[in-house]
Amino acid sequence: MTIDLTKTGIDPFDLIYKQMLNQLQGNILKPHGRDYSSHIILRFTAEARATKEWIQNFARAQLSSALQQVEEAKSFRETQQPGQMFVSIFLSASGYEHLGFDPGKFDEENDTFRLGMKKRRRVNTFFPNKDPRVEQWEEVYRGSIHALIMLADDSAEAVRAATESIAASVSTVAQILAIERGYVLRNSEKEPIEHFGYVDGLSNPRFLKGDLELEERQTWDPSAPLGQVLAPDPFNTAPDAFGSYFVFRKLEQNVHGFNLGIRELSARLRVDEALAGAMVVGRFRDGTPLTLEPQAGLGAVNDFNYRNDKDALKCPFHAHIRKANQRGETPLTSEESERSRRIARRGVVYGERAPGLTDEPEGGVGLLFMCYQADIGHQFEFLQRVWFDNPRFPEILSETGDCPLIGQDGDEPQRWRTKWGDEGGDEDAERLRINFGDWIRLKGGEYFFAPSVGFLQNIVADLP
Ligand code: HEM
Repeated sequence: MTIDLTKTGIDPFDLIYKQMLNQLQGNILKPHGRDYSSHIILRFTAEARATKEWIQNFARAQLSSALQQVEEAKSFRETQQPGQMFVSIFLSASGYEHLGFDPGKFDEENDTFRLGMKKRRRVNTFFPNKDPRVEQWEEVYRGSIHALIMLADDSAEAVRAATESIAASVSTVAQILAIERGYVLRNSEKEPIEHFGYVDGLSNPRFLKGDLELEERQTWDPSAPLGQVLAPDPFNTAPDAFGSYFVFRKLEQNVHGFNLGIRELSARLRVDEALAGAMVVGRFRDGTPLTLEPQAGLGAVNDFNYRNDKDALKCPFHAHIRKANQRGETPLTSEESERSRRIARRGVVYGERAPGLTDEPEGGVGLLFMCYQADIGHQFEFLQRVWFDNPRFPEILSETGDCPLIGQDGDEPQRWRTKWGDEGGDEDAERLRINFGDWIRLKGGEYFFAPSVGFLQNIVADLP
Protein backbone atom coordinates (compact mmCIF):
# COMPACT_ATOMS: atom_id res chain seq x y z
CA MET A 1 0.00 0.00 0.00
CA THR A 2 1.38 3.41 -0.89
CA ILE A 3 0.46 6.39 1.20
CA ASP A 4 -1.17 9.34 -0.57
CA LEU A 5 0.76 12.38 0.70
CA THR A 6 -1.94 14.79 -0.43
CA LYS A 7 -4.34 13.40 2.22
CA THR A 8 -5.39 15.72 5.06
CA GLY A 9 -7.07 14.96 8.39
CA ILE A 10 -6.16 11.27 8.42
CA ASP A 11 -7.54 8.83 10.97
CA PRO A 12 -4.39 7.32 12.56
CA PHE A 13 -6.36 4.24 13.62
CA ASP A 14 -7.30 3.47 10.01
CA LEU A 15 -5.38 0.30 9.03
CA ILE A 16 -4.07 1.98 5.84
CA TYR A 17 -1.83 4.16 7.99
CA LYS A 18 -0.67 1.64 10.56
CA GLN A 19 2.52 0.56 8.76
CA MET A 20 3.43 4.16 7.92
CA LEU A 21 2.93 5.39 11.51
CA ASN A 22 4.89 2.45 12.85
CA GLN A 23 7.84 3.50 10.68
CA LEU A 24 7.56 7.21 11.47
CA GLN A 25 9.05 8.90 14.55
CA GLY A 26 6.63 10.65 16.90
CA ASN A 27 6.13 14.43 17.36
CA ILE A 28 6.00 15.06 13.59
CA LEU A 29 2.26 14.77 12.91
CA LYS A 30 1.25 15.78 16.44
CA PRO A 31 3.16 17.39 19.36
CA HIS A 32 4.36 14.86 21.97
CA GLY A 33 2.67 17.00 24.64
CA ARG A 34 5.17 16.39 27.48
CA ASP A 35 6.15 19.28 29.79
CA TYR A 36 9.90 18.64 30.18
CA SER A 37 12.48 17.75 27.57
CA SER A 38 16.19 17.50 27.00
CA HIS A 39 18.11 17.79 23.76
CA ILE A 40 21.47 16.04 23.67
CA ILE A 41 23.64 17.41 20.88
CA LEU A 42 26.35 15.08 19.65
CA ARG A 43 29.47 14.76 17.54
CA PHE A 44 30.35 11.14 16.80
CA THR A 45 33.88 10.17 17.81
CA ALA A 46 33.90 6.37 17.38
CA GLU A 47 34.24 4.76 13.97
CA ALA A 48 31.08 4.14 11.95
CA ARG A 49 30.43 0.52 12.93
CA ALA A 50 30.57 1.06 16.71
CA THR A 51 28.46 4.21 16.42
CA LYS A 52 25.85 2.43 14.33
CA GLU A 53 25.72 -0.40 16.87
CA TRP A 54 25.05 2.09 19.64
CA ILE A 55 22.30 3.82 17.61
CA GLN A 56 20.66 0.51 16.70
CA ASN A 57 20.59 -0.79 20.27
CA PHE A 58 19.30 2.52 21.59
CA ALA A 59 16.64 2.85 18.87
CA ARG A 60 15.42 -0.72 19.44
CA ALA A 61 15.12 -0.11 23.17
CA GLN A 62 13.80 3.44 23.35
CA LEU A 63 12.64 5.14 20.12
CA SER A 64 9.02 6.39 20.05
CA SER A 65 7.06 5.80 16.86
CA ALA A 66 4.13 7.91 15.70
CA LEU A 67 1.90 4.85 16.16
CA GLN A 68 2.98 4.44 19.77
CA GLN A 69 2.39 8.16 20.33
CA VAL A 70 -1.23 8.10 19.06
CA GLU A 71 -1.97 4.88 20.97
CA GLU A 72 -0.57 6.38 24.18
CA ALA A 73 -2.56 9.59 23.63
CA LYS A 74 -5.73 7.50 23.23
CA SER A 75 -5.11 5.49 26.38
CA PHE A 76 -4.30 8.69 28.29
CA ARG A 77 -7.70 10.11 27.27
CA GLU A 78 -9.43 6.92 28.38
CA THR A 79 -7.52 5.91 31.50
CA GLN A 80 -5.33 8.94 32.45
CA GLN A 81 -2.37 6.53 32.20
CA PRO A 82 0.64 8.66 31.08
CA GLY A 83 2.77 7.43 28.18
CA GLN A 84 6.39 6.32 28.34
CA MET A 85 9.40 8.63 28.05
CA PHE A 86 9.22 10.13 24.55
CA VAL A 87 12.44 9.60 22.55
CA SER A 88 13.50 10.86 19.10
CA ILE A 89 16.78 10.66 17.18
CA PHE A 90 17.88 13.08 14.47
CA LEU A 91 20.91 12.99 12.15
CA SER A 92 22.55 15.90 10.31
CA ALA A 93 24.06 15.53 6.83
CA SER A 94 27.56 15.34 8.35
CA GLY A 95 26.24 12.75 10.81
CA TYR A 96 25.05 10.56 7.92
CA GLU A 97 28.41 11.04 6.25
CA HIS A 98 30.28 9.95 9.39
CA LEU A 99 28.17 6.79 9.47
CA GLY A 100 28.99 6.03 5.83
CA PHE A 101 25.70 7.12 4.21
CA ASP A 102 25.83 9.48 1.24
CA PRO A 103 23.84 12.68 2.05
CA GLY A 104 23.61 13.26 -1.72
CA LYS A 105 20.74 10.73 -1.63
CA PHE A 106 18.43 13.32 -0.05
CA ASP A 107 16.55 14.88 -2.91
CA GLU A 108 15.65 18.20 -1.32
CA GLU A 109 15.26 20.75 -4.06
CA ASN A 110 17.97 23.19 -3.03
CA ASP A 111 20.35 21.08 -0.94
CA THR A 112 19.61 23.01 2.21
CA PHE A 113 19.84 19.98 4.49
CA ARG A 114 22.97 18.63 2.78
CA LEU A 115 24.81 21.93 3.28
CA GLY A 116 23.65 22.42 6.89
CA MET A 117 22.81 25.61 8.79
CA LYS A 118 26.36 27.00 8.92
CA LYS A 119 27.07 26.78 5.19
CA ARG A 120 23.58 28.02 4.33
CA ARG A 121 24.43 31.14 6.36
CA ARG A 122 26.67 32.20 3.48
CA VAL A 123 23.84 32.00 0.95
CA ASN A 124 23.67 35.39 -0.63
CA THR A 125 20.89 35.45 -3.16
CA PHE A 126 18.22 38.03 -3.82
CA PHE A 127 17.01 37.34 -0.26
CA PRO A 128 20.26 36.93 1.68
CA ASN A 129 20.56 34.75 4.75
CA LYS A 130 20.92 37.22 7.65
CA ASP A 131 21.81 34.75 10.44
CA PRO A 132 24.56 36.13 12.71
CA ARG A 133 28.11 35.02 11.90
CA VAL A 134 29.04 31.58 13.24
CA GLU A 135 31.79 33.19 15.39
CA GLN A 136 28.97 34.88 17.32
CA TRP A 137 27.22 31.57 18.08
CA GLU A 138 27.85 29.71 21.33
CA GLU A 139 31.13 27.89 21.00
CA VAL A 140 29.61 24.40 21.24
CA TYR A 141 27.57 25.01 18.08
CA ARG A 142 30.43 26.32 15.93
CA GLY A 143 31.90 22.98 14.86
CA SER A 144 30.43 19.85 13.29
CA ILE A 145 27.15 18.59 14.80
CA HIS A 146 26.19 15.02 13.91
CA ALA A 147 23.09 14.09 15.85
CA LEU A 148 20.48 15.17 18.35
CA ILE A 149 18.61 12.97 20.82
CA MET A 150 15.39 14.36 22.25
CA LEU A 151 13.85 13.02 25.47
CA ALA A 152 10.54 14.24 26.88
CA ASP A 153 8.34 13.39 29.81
CA ASP A 154 5.92 15.01 32.26
CA SER A 155 8.34 14.34 35.11
CA ALA A 156 11.35 16.66 35.23
CA GLU A 157 13.13 14.12 37.42
CA ALA A 158 12.56 11.29 34.93
CA VAL A 159 14.00 13.42 32.11
CA ARG A 160 17.01 14.35 34.24
CA ALA A 161 17.72 10.73 35.17
CA ALA A 162 17.26 9.43 31.60
CA THR A 163 19.47 12.22 30.22
CA GLU A 164 22.25 11.30 32.64
CA SER A 165 22.08 7.63 31.82
CA ILE A 166 21.93 8.16 28.03
CA ALA A 167 24.74 10.73 28.19
CA ALA A 168 26.93 8.22 30.04
CA SER A 169 26.18 5.49 27.53
CA VAL A 170 26.49 7.56 24.33
CA SER A 171 29.80 9.04 25.45
CA THR A 172 31.44 5.77 24.38
CA VAL A 173 30.76 6.72 20.74
CA ALA A 174 30.20 10.48 20.75
CA GLN A 175 31.25 13.75 22.31
CA ILE A 176 28.36 15.52 24.02
CA LEU A 177 28.50 19.07 22.71
CA ALA A 178 25.54 20.41 24.67
CA ILE A 179 22.53 19.32 26.66
CA GLU A 180 19.72 21.83 26.23
CA ARG A 181 16.87 21.51 28.72
CA GLY A 182 13.44 22.65 27.60
CA TYR A 183 10.14 22.95 29.39
CA VAL A 184 6.67 24.36 29.02
CA LEU A 185 6.47 27.80 30.66
CA ARG A 186 2.91 28.73 31.67
CA ASN A 187 1.03 31.94 32.53
CA SER A 188 -1.34 32.29 35.49
CA GLU A 189 -4.07 30.66 33.37
CA LYS A 190 -1.75 27.64 32.88
CA GLU A 191 -1.49 28.33 29.14
CA PRO A 192 1.89 27.71 27.45
CA ILE A 193 3.77 30.97 26.84
CA GLU A 194 7.16 32.09 25.54
CA HIS A 195 9.50 34.27 27.64
CA PHE A 196 8.03 37.63 26.56
CA GLY A 197 4.75 36.39 28.04
CA TYR A 198 2.69 35.66 24.89
CA VAL A 199 0.64 32.49 24.59
CA ASP A 200 2.43 30.28 22.04
CA GLY A 201 1.75 27.12 20.06
CA LEU A 202 -1.72 28.18 18.89
CA SER A 203 -1.51 28.05 15.12
CA ASN A 204 -0.02 24.94 13.56
CA PRO A 205 -0.86 22.77 10.57
CA ARG A 206 -3.03 19.84 11.71
CA PHE A 207 -2.69 16.42 10.13
CA LEU A 208 -4.86 14.12 12.23
CA LYS A 209 -8.65 13.94 12.17
CA GLY A 210 -9.01 14.21 15.97
CA ASP A 211 -6.79 17.32 16.15
CA LEU A 212 -8.69 19.01 13.32
CA GLU A 213 -12.02 18.35 14.97
CA LEU A 214 -10.88 20.37 18.00
CA GLU A 215 -10.53 23.58 15.94
CA GLU A 216 -13.16 26.05 14.67
CA ARG A 217 -12.59 26.43 10.93
CA GLN A 218 -14.99 29.00 9.44
CA THR A 219 -12.38 31.46 8.19
CA TRP A 220 -9.07 29.62 8.50
CA ASP A 221 -8.45 25.98 7.65
CA PRO A 222 -5.55 24.56 9.72
CA SER A 223 -5.54 21.20 7.93
CA ALA A 224 -2.43 20.25 5.99
CA PRO A 225 -1.53 17.33 3.72
CA LEU A 226 0.88 14.66 5.01
CA GLY A 227 3.35 15.81 2.34
CA GLN A 228 3.76 19.12 4.21
CA VAL A 229 6.03 17.36 6.71
CA LEU A 230 6.78 13.86 5.40
CA ALA A 231 9.70 13.09 3.11
CA PRO A 232 10.77 9.63 1.90
CA ASP A 233 13.61 8.09 3.88
CA PRO A 234 16.28 7.53 1.20
CA PHE A 235 17.94 4.75 3.23
CA ASN A 236 14.87 2.67 3.91
CA THR A 237 13.47 0.77 0.95
CA ALA A 238 10.46 -0.56 2.90
CA PRO A 239 7.16 0.83 1.57
CA ASP A 240 5.75 3.75 3.54
CA ALA A 241 9.02 4.58 5.30
CA PHE A 242 9.04 8.31 5.85
CA GLY A 243 11.04 10.79 7.84
CA SER A 244 10.94 14.56 8.20
CA TYR A 245 13.44 17.40 7.93
CA PHE A 246 13.96 19.09 11.29
CA VAL A 247 15.29 22.56 12.14
CA PHE A 248 16.79 23.21 15.59
CA ARG A 249 17.69 26.79 16.55
CA LYS A 250 18.64 28.09 19.98
CA LEU A 251 17.12 31.60 20.07
CA GLU A 252 18.09 33.72 23.08
CA GLN A 253 15.54 36.29 24.26
CA ASN A 254 16.44 39.56 25.99
CA VAL A 255 13.34 40.03 28.13
CA HIS A 256 14.52 43.29 29.77
CA GLY A 257 15.37 44.85 26.40
CA PHE A 258 12.08 43.77 24.89
CA ASN A 259 10.06 45.20 27.79
CA LEU A 260 11.94 48.53 27.63
CA GLY A 261 11.47 48.60 23.87
CA ILE A 262 7.73 48.04 24.24
CA ARG A 263 7.51 50.87 26.79
CA GLU A 264 9.29 53.23 24.40
CA LEU A 265 7.20 52.10 21.46
CA SER A 266 3.98 52.62 23.37
CA ALA A 267 5.09 56.14 24.34
CA ARG A 268 6.00 57.08 20.77
CA LEU A 269 2.83 55.63 19.28
CA ARG A 270 0.71 56.95 22.17
CA VAL A 271 -0.98 53.58 22.60
CA ASP A 272 -0.96 51.41 25.72
CA GLU A 273 1.78 48.81 26.18
CA ALA A 274 -0.56 45.89 25.55
CA LEU A 275 -1.47 47.29 22.12
CA ALA A 276 2.17 48.14 21.29
CA GLY A 277 3.13 44.53 22.10
CA ALA A 278 0.27 43.18 20.00
CA MET A 279 1.53 45.33 17.09
CA VAL A 280 4.83 43.45 17.36
CA VAL A 281 3.43 39.93 17.72
CA GLY A 282 0.04 40.22 15.96
CA ARG A 283 -1.68 38.80 19.04
CA PHE A 284 -2.17 40.11 22.57
CA ARG A 285 -0.52 38.21 25.40
CA ASP A 286 -3.64 36.07 25.91
CA GLY A 287 -3.61 35.14 22.21
CA THR A 288 -6.35 37.52 21.00
CA PRO A 289 -5.60 38.24 17.29
CA LEU A 290 -5.02 41.99 16.81
CA THR A 291 -6.84 41.93 13.48
CA LEU A 292 -10.04 41.01 15.36
CA GLU A 293 -9.89 43.23 18.47
CA PRO A 294 -8.05 46.34 19.77
CA GLN A 295 -7.71 44.77 23.21
CA ALA A 296 -7.14 41.38 24.84
CA GLY A 297 -10.08 39.23 25.89
CA LEU A 298 -10.89 36.79 23.08
CA GLY A 299 -7.96 34.57 24.00
CA ALA A 300 -6.49 31.74 22.00
CA VAL A 301 -8.59 32.08 18.84
CA ASN A 302 -7.19 30.65 15.62
CA ASP A 303 -10.18 30.90 13.30
CA PHE A 304 -9.44 34.21 11.54
CA ASN A 305 -7.85 35.72 8.45
CA TYR A 306 -6.88 39.20 7.18
CA ARG A 307 -9.62 39.57 4.53
CA ASN A 308 -11.25 42.42 6.49
CA ASP A 309 -7.91 44.09 7.16
CA LYS A 310 -6.32 44.19 3.70
CA ASP A 311 -4.69 47.61 4.32
CA ALA A 312 -3.34 46.53 7.70
CA LEU A 313 -5.22 49.22 9.60
CA LYS A 314 -5.73 46.78 12.50
CA CYS A 315 -2.86 44.30 12.43
CA PRO A 316 0.37 45.71 10.91
CA PHE A 317 1.84 43.85 7.92
CA HIS A 318 5.08 43.44 9.86
CA ALA A 319 3.51 41.74 12.93
CA HIS A 320 5.21 38.39 13.58
CA ILE A 321 2.20 36.18 12.94
CA ARG A 322 1.11 38.18 9.88
CA LYS A 323 4.54 37.87 8.26
CA ALA A 324 4.57 34.18 9.25
CA ASN A 325 1.17 33.39 7.79
CA GLN A 326 -0.77 35.80 5.59
CA ARG A 327 -3.74 33.41 5.69
CA GLY A 328 -4.50 33.73 1.99
CA GLU A 329 -3.36 37.33 1.38
CA THR A 330 0.25 36.86 0.19
CA PRO A 331 0.64 39.16 -2.83
CA LEU A 332 1.32 37.60 -6.26
CA THR A 333 0.97 34.11 -4.78
CA SER A 334 -1.73 31.45 -4.93
CA GLU A 335 -3.22 30.32 -1.64
CA GLU A 336 -1.95 26.82 -2.38
CA SER A 337 1.63 28.04 -2.77
CA GLU A 338 1.36 30.16 0.38
CA ARG A 339 0.06 27.17 2.37
CA SER A 340 2.90 24.98 1.09
CA ARG A 341 5.35 27.08 3.17
CA ARG A 342 3.83 26.09 6.52
CA ILE A 343 5.95 24.34 9.15
CA ALA A 344 5.00 22.15 12.12
CA ARG A 345 6.39 24.15 15.07
CA ARG A 346 7.41 22.18 18.15
CA GLY A 347 9.54 24.71 20.11
CA VAL A 348 10.00 24.76 23.89
CA VAL A 349 11.44 27.43 26.16
CA TYR A 350 14.76 27.12 27.99
CA GLY A 351 16.14 29.02 31.01
CA GLU A 352 14.58 29.39 34.46
CA ARG A 353 12.33 32.32 35.43
CA ALA A 354 11.25 33.79 38.76
CA PRO A 355 7.77 32.77 39.94
CA GLY A 356 5.13 35.00 38.35
CA LEU A 357 7.75 36.08 35.75
CA THR A 358 8.63 39.09 37.90
CA ASP A 359 12.26 39.01 36.73
CA GLU A 360 13.47 40.52 33.45
CA PRO A 361 16.52 38.51 32.32
CA GLU A 362 18.72 40.00 29.60
CA GLY A 363 20.05 36.62 28.52
CA GLY A 364 20.26 32.94 29.42
CA VAL A 365 16.62 32.34 28.49
CA GLY A 366 14.90 31.80 25.16
CA LEU A 367 13.27 29.39 22.79
CA LEU A 368 14.61 26.09 21.52
CA PHE A 369 12.91 26.66 18.19
CA MET A 370 12.13 23.38 16.44
CA CYS A 371 10.09 22.64 13.37
CA TYR A 372 9.38 19.76 11.00
CA GLN A 373 8.87 20.09 7.27
CA ALA A 374 9.22 18.28 3.94
CA ASP A 375 11.82 20.73 2.59
CA ILE A 376 13.85 23.13 4.76
CA GLY A 377 14.66 25.51 1.88
CA HIS A 378 11.06 25.76 0.74
CA GLN A 379 9.61 26.09 4.23
CA PHE A 380 11.66 27.23 7.28
CA GLU A 381 14.34 29.12 5.32
CA PHE A 382 11.83 30.76 3.03
CA LEU A 383 9.89 32.04 6.04
CA GLN A 384 13.01 33.38 7.72
CA ARG A 385 14.73 34.93 4.67
CA VAL A 386 11.91 35.95 2.33
CA TRP A 387 9.23 36.86 4.85
CA PHE A 388 10.71 37.72 8.30
CA ASP A 389 14.09 39.18 7.31
CA ASN A 390 12.82 40.92 4.17
CA PRO A 391 11.68 44.53 4.75
CA ARG A 392 9.73 44.43 1.46
CA PHE A 393 7.38 41.65 2.47
CA PRO A 394 4.44 41.74 2.08
CA GLU A 395 4.44 45.31 0.74
CA ILE A 396 6.75 45.15 -2.23
CA LEU A 397 6.76 48.91 -2.92
CA SER A 398 6.23 50.62 0.40
CA GLU A 399 8.51 48.64 2.71
CA THR A 400 6.88 46.92 5.65
CA GLY A 401 10.17 46.54 7.56
CA ASP A 402 11.56 43.28 8.94
CA CYS A 403 9.75 41.26 11.62
CA PRO A 404 10.07 43.25 14.89
CA LEU A 405 10.15 39.98 16.87
CA ILE A 406 12.58 37.72 15.03
CA GLY A 407 13.76 39.77 12.05
CA GLN A 408 17.55 39.70 11.83
CA ASP A 409 18.01 42.99 9.99
CA GLY A 410 18.83 45.48 12.74
CA ASP A 411 18.62 48.58 10.51
CA GLU A 412 15.18 48.14 9.04
CA PRO A 413 12.43 50.32 10.54
CA GLN A 414 8.85 49.09 10.43
CA ARG A 415 5.79 51.24 9.64
CA TRP A 416 3.57 51.68 12.69
CA ARG A 417 0.11 53.18 13.10
CA THR A 418 -0.99 55.24 16.06
CA LYS A 419 -4.58 54.01 15.83
CA TRP A 420 -6.35 50.70 15.52
CA GLY A 421 -8.85 50.40 12.66
CA ASP A 422 -10.02 53.06 10.26
CA GLU A 423 -11.20 55.77 12.62
CA GLY A 424 -9.08 58.91 12.31
CA GLY A 425 -9.04 59.47 8.54
CA ASP A 426 -5.78 59.77 6.64
CA GLU A 427 -4.03 56.50 7.35
CA ASP A 428 -0.67 57.24 5.80
CA ALA A 429 -0.15 60.34 7.89
CA GLU A 430 -0.48 58.15 10.96
CA ARG A 431 2.22 55.70 9.96
CA LEU A 432 5.49 56.24 11.81
CA ARG A 433 8.76 54.57 10.85
CA ILE A 434 10.39 53.16 13.97
CA ASN A 435 13.05 50.46 14.18
CA PHE A 436 11.95 47.91 16.78
CA GLY A 437 13.73 44.61 17.26
CA ASP A 438 16.96 42.77 17.90
CA TRP A 439 15.78 41.26 21.19
CA ILE A 440 16.14 37.69 19.92
CA ARG A 441 19.49 36.24 18.85
CA LEU A 442 20.45 32.99 17.16
CA LYS A 443 23.02 31.23 19.37
CA GLY A 444 23.44 28.08 17.27
CA GLY A 445 21.60 25.25 15.60
CA GLU A 446 21.59 22.72 12.80
CA TYR A 447 19.45 21.12 10.13
CA PHE A 448 18.59 17.47 10.77
CA PHE A 449 16.54 14.62 9.36
CA ALA A 450 14.30 12.49 11.59
CA PRO A 451 14.95 9.09 9.94
CA SER A 452 12.35 6.34 9.76
CA VAL A 453 12.16 3.99 12.74
CA GLY A 454 13.13 0.99 10.58
CA PHE A 455 16.31 2.67 9.38
CA LEU A 456 17.49 3.45 12.92
CA GLN A 457 16.51 0.08 14.34
CA ASN A 458 18.37 -1.78 11.58
CA ILE A 459 21.20 0.62 10.89
CA VAL A 460 23.63 -2.27 11.30
CA ALA A 461 21.77 -4.84 9.29
CA ASP A 462 23.57 -7.90 10.71
CA LEU A 463 23.18 -7.25 14.44
CA PRO A 464 20.90 -9.78 16.16
C1 HEM B 1 12.10 33.28 20.20
C2 HEM B 1 11.57 33.27 18.99
C3 HEM B 1 10.10 33.30 18.72
C4 HEM B 1 9.07 33.73 19.51
C5 HEM B 1 9.14 34.35 20.89
C6 HEM B 1 7.85 33.49 18.76
C7 HEM B 1 6.58 33.78 19.23
C8 HEM B 1 5.41 33.46 18.56
C9 HEM B 1 4.08 33.70 19.08
C10 HEM B 1 3.77 34.32 20.44
C11 HEM B 1 3.20 33.26 18.16
C12 HEM B 1 1.66 33.32 18.27
C13 HEM B 1 1.08 32.04 18.82
C14 HEM B 1 0.78 31.01 17.78
O1 HEM B 1 0.14 31.29 16.77
O2 HEM B 1 1.21 29.86 17.98
C15 HEM B 1 3.97 32.76 17.03
C16 HEM B 1 3.42 32.22 15.88
C17 HEM B 1 4.18 31.77 14.81
N1 HEM B 1 5.54 31.80 14.68
FE1 HEM B 1 6.84 32.45 16.06
N2 HEM B 1 8.17 32.95 17.54
C18 HEM B 1 9.52 32.81 17.48
C19 HEM B 1 10.26 32.31 16.43
C20 HEM B 1 9.73 31.89 15.23
C21 HEM B 1 10.51 31.40 14.12
C22 HEM B 1 12.03 31.29 14.06
C23 HEM B 1 9.62 31.07 13.13
C24 HEM B 1 9.89 30.50 11.76
C25 HEM B 1 10.94 30.79 11.01
C26 HEM B 1 8.29 31.32 13.64
C27 HEM B 1 7.13 31.07 12.96
C28 HEM B 1 5.87 31.24 13.47
C29 HEM B 1 4.67 30.81 12.79
C30 HEM B 1 4.58 30.10 11.44
C31 HEM B 1 3.60 31.15 13.63
C32 HEM B 1 2.11 30.90 13.36
C33 HEM B 1 1.49 32.03 12.56
C34 HEM B 1 0.06 31.75 12.20
O3 HEM B 1 -0.21 30.69 11.64
O4 HEM B 1 -0.79 32.59 12.49
N3 HEM B 1 8.40 31.84 14.91
N4 HEM B 1 5.31 32.90 17.30
